[in-house]
Amino acid sequence: MKDRLPVQNAPSLMCANLLRLEDDLRALEAGGAAWWHIDIMDGHFVPNLTLGQDFCRAVARACPSVPLDIHLMVQPVEQHLDRFLEFSGSRISFHPEASRDPGAVLTRIRQAGCHPGLAISPSVSVESLEPLLADSAYACVMTVQPGFAGQKLIPACLPKIGQVRRFFGENGLPNDIEVDGNVSWENIPAMVGEGASVLVTGTSSLFSKTVPLEEGCRRLRSLLDRLA
Ligand code: DX5
Ligand code: ZN
Repeated sequence: MKDRLPVQNAPSLMCANLLRLEDDLRALEAGGAAWWHIDIMDGHFVPNLTLGQDFCRAVARACPSVPLDIHLMVQPVEQHLDRFLEFSGSRISFHPEASRDPGAVLTRIRQAGCHPGLAISPSVSVESLEPLLADSAYACVMTVQPGFAGQKLIPACLPKIGQVRRFFGENGLPNDIEVDGNVSWENIPAMVGEGASVLVTGTSSLFSKTVPLEEGCRRLRSLLDRLA
C-alpha cells in the first residue's frame, strides 16, 4: 500500500465523553484526528436521536483546526440538509435511499462549499450507486447497521470497501473511502487492506472504558504505521 495516502482517523464524537467534550477534543487533536465524525440521527431513518446543529457549532468553535465530517442518518435528507450547509469546507455524507433526488443533494452540498459523500448502508449495493459515486467527493461504507455505536461488524460489508476502491480507481478518482462501524483493532487491518483511507473510530477502538484517549491514539498510529 506504499503508493497510498496515510490512513486518517475520524473519531466518532457520539462516543466521546459529552461531559468532558473539550478535553476529549484536545486529546484527539493532539493524537492526530483528521476529521470530527459527527453522527446526526432523526429517530426516523434510524431508531436513535443523537447530535445536532448546535453540537456541530460547538465543536467547530472549540477545535476549528479539525474539519467536520457530518454523517446524516436522516430522512428525507432534504428536510434537514440546509441546517448543516453553514459549515463550509466540511464533509457531509447522507444515505441516498433517504432522499427523493440524491443527485440534487450532492449538487446542493457542493454548491454550499462543502464536500458531498455517499453513506452506503449494509443493505445497499455498490453497483446500484455507481452513477452517484462518480459525482461524490468521498464514500462512507457502513460496516454495521446505521444508528448505534457498539455493534459488531457485518462481514459481508468488508468487500464493499474494495468495490468502491476499484470503482474510484477505474474512474481516476483519488477519493477517500471512510469505514464506519466496529472499526476495532482486529478489524482495521482488513478494512485498510480493502482500501479504506479514513477510519471512523468509536467504542471499538479509541473510546474504550479502560484505555485513555491518548494511549488509544498512540496505539492507532503505531498500528497504521505497521500497515503502511
Ligand atoms: C454507527 C455510528 C458510528 C460507529 C461508532 O451508526 O455511525 O459512529 O458505529 O463506533 P463503534 O461502532 O466502534 O462503536
Ligand atoms: Zn457515522
